[in-house]
Amino acid sequence: MPETRSNRKVLVLPGDGIGPEIMREVLRVIEFFDRRHIASFEVTQGLVGGAAYDASGVPLTDETMAQAMASDAVLFGSVGGPKWEILPFELRPERGLLRLRKDMDLFANLRPAVVFDALADASALKRDLVAGLDLMIVRELTGGIYFGEPRGVETLPDGSRRGINTEVYTEAEIERVVRAGFDLARKRQRRLCEVDKANVMESGGLWREIAEEVHADYPDVELSFMYADNCAMQLVRNPKQFDVIVTSNLFGDILSDCAAMLTGSLGMLPSASLGAADSSGRRKALYEPVHGSAPDIAGKGVANPLASILSFAMMLRYSFDMAAEADLVEDAVRRALAAGARTADIRQQGAAPVSTRVMGDTILAELAAAA
Ligand code: IPM
Ligand code: MG
Repeated sequence: MPETRSNRKVLVLPGDGIGPEIMREVLRVIEFFDRRHIASFEVTQGLVGGAAYDASGVPLTDETMAQAMASDAVLFGSVGGPKWEILPFELRPERGLLRLRKDMDLFANLRPAVVFDALADASALKRDLVAGLDLMIVRELTGGIYFGEPRGVETLPDGSRRGINTEVYTEAEIERVVRAGFDLARKRQRRLCEVDKANVMESGGLWREIAEEVHADYPDVELSFMYADNCAMQLVRNPKQFDVIVTSNLFGDILSDCAAMLTGSLGMLPSASLGAADSSGRRKALYEPVHGSAPDIAGKGVANPLASILSFAMMLRYSFDMAAEADLVEDAVRRALAAGARTADIRQQGAAPVSTRVMGDTILAELAAAA
């Protein structure tokens, strides 16, 4: 394994709800890496979401934003909760996350859906439909209807109101994320499926055109197209037909929750949000679990830390080119599950679930046995 290098500035933003308790387990894995001289990171912590709002009146301060811009990677927990739902839109916890994504220009959101063998029975689908599943959704993350103008709620002359959001994509925005999809497919099974609603949306037609054009640079990758509604259906009918899916911000949001459930628990799924590579090949990046802040179980020490721990593994792989170390973490998760460690969300009939901390302990023990 490579020697410890500098230039590993990591900003940790635990956020709200279960964010802090799951991030604590990630920090223990980071400490383990340091103690064992596997890799060292310069870790700083900051506030985001409701926690930042409570401390400073905004869901992300300019200082924290600047820290994120200056870091090599951001590890993000989760944001939001009932306490902040009464706030105006601009001050909601979610806006902190959206600002990070937008200002860091993290346009490619990688959401893998991998079924661990030990969990194939936890899926809502039959075992044979999901056993061995390994698909990747590449979701566009900085454009489309999430950010498009015009937006808002306006009052019409007759006093009634009208809500507006706009799906808008430039060629350049589509091209860069489609390329990210092709690049990933090339390292996997070489199949890319572009998902849109080209049958009703002009912007979807443009996605198809651009995907066809970019395909010329990737003749070794098979390109297919699918409408988003059909894709939702196919994900639950026969998910193993997919290798890499590339799609817009909104469709990716919805389809990735759907794909997540195939794996048995939202608590298992990591994600990476990547920007463009600069001249030295470095890219801005943020890693976060796909699940939310789960206010109903926050503070009880029962949340599943594996999605966050697996997000840390993605950080090793995509930000620091440490594939062997990422494998180490992923294998530790695989072995912990195989040995029967289960938090409540993936509990087995008749077996007592373990706490967040005990799951962390188990991962550390597996790491220690392998490192
Ligand atoms: C996600 C979440 C976010 C989104 C929310 C929290 C803003 O659902 O990351 O999928 O809609 O992008
Ligand atoms: Mg979502």
